[in-house]
Amino acid sequence: MGNFLAGKVIAVTGAGRGIGRAVALGAAAEGARVVVNDYGVSMDGGSPTSEIAESVVKEVTAAGGEAVAVADDISTMAGGQRVVDAALTSYGRLDGVVCVAGILRERMLFNMSEDEWDPVIATHLKGTFTVFRAASAVMRQQRAGTLIGFTSGNHQGSVSQANYSAAKGGVISLVRSAALGLHKYGVTANAVAPVARTRMSANVPMELTEIGEPEDVAALVVYLLSDRAREQGITGQVYTIAGPKIAVWAQPRELRSAYAEGAGWTPERIAQFLPGSVGVDPMPMLSQVAGMELAAARRDRPNAR
Ligand SMILES: NC(=O)c1ccc[n+]([C@@H]2O[C@H](COP(=O)([O-])OP(=O)(O)OC[C@H]3O[C@@H](n4cnc5c(N)ncnc54)[C@H](O)[C@@H]3O)[C@@H](O)[C@H]2O)c1
Repeated sequence: MGNFLAGKVIAVTGAGRGIGRAVALGAAAEGARVVVNDYGVSMDGGSPTSEIAESVVKEVTAAGGEAVAVADDISTMAGGQRVVDAALTSYGRLDGVVCVAGILRERMLFNMSEDEWDPVIATHLKGTFTVFRAASAVMRQQRAGTLIGFTSGNHQGSVSQANYSAAKGGVISLVRSAALGLHKYGVTANAVAPVARTRMSANVPMELTEIGEPEDVAALVVYLLSDRAREQGITGQVYTIAGPKIAVWAQPRELRSAYAEGAGWTPERIAQFLPGSVGVDPMPMLSQVAGMELAAARRDRPNAR
């Protein structure tokens, strides 16, 4: 056991499987007491069971750590609040929250139903809000704390997961808003865009050349939760960890601007002015679409239609 998180209390959503489980075990191994939240659902969000969260609590305690299970659905305000309340009731404090819970409902945009859109946004985006909302109220009072959201490289856009991509883009903006709004209270907020072998990544329609294990992601999260990261001024960042690679994503900013002589834009003036002055910023993923479609076709993924 290390002591990167000695004395801290950390709540992790989606901690029953995959990356969340590795984060819970990794945080406990570094001295944290952990709230293990998992609704215990299938990859599309159905068939909940409380056994998933409880089994990780058993793993943590078997390894000599301390943990408590919360099997609630974090896409509800009450569920997010219970995750935070469990930390306060069981351990009397809350130093960090890590929102890992996620589901997939894949479909081409032109075929996507409301029932495929809403639960994906609710789990990823609202599910980060519910926990950040409850946790930030506590952290503001104690003038310390760390919020971590989980995004994806897919926030750049996705062929058959517009719902997931939109939710993950929203998580980044939520994290940046938390970093800005809570800075003066000593609270940091960062996002992680992982690439790791789990049940969720098993269906990715491309050959991933850069992929690692959930334990690699857990190491980054433990660092971000630690005083070391706070002392190093890390907030408002998005990091990818993919096997041996760590990357930081750019902050969104205006790429190029130009000013026209005189007032009053018209569509015709813009058509003449825009291409030669501000132009476009080519979309990196657009050049990969053909390859992704080929890979998807090879795997014959019926949902991606
Ligand atoms: N695995 C990757 O390569 C990868 C890539 C990009 C992003 N991500 C993101 O990382 C996170 C973890 O992914 P994973 O691969 O470990 O997935 P996973 O399916 O292995 O684990 C997700 C867990 O979240 C739980 N969960 C789902 N809905 C919930 C809810 N409403 N309340 C509480 N728990 C809920 C599930 O029961 C499950 O145990 C997700 O947010 C995912 O979008 C993963």
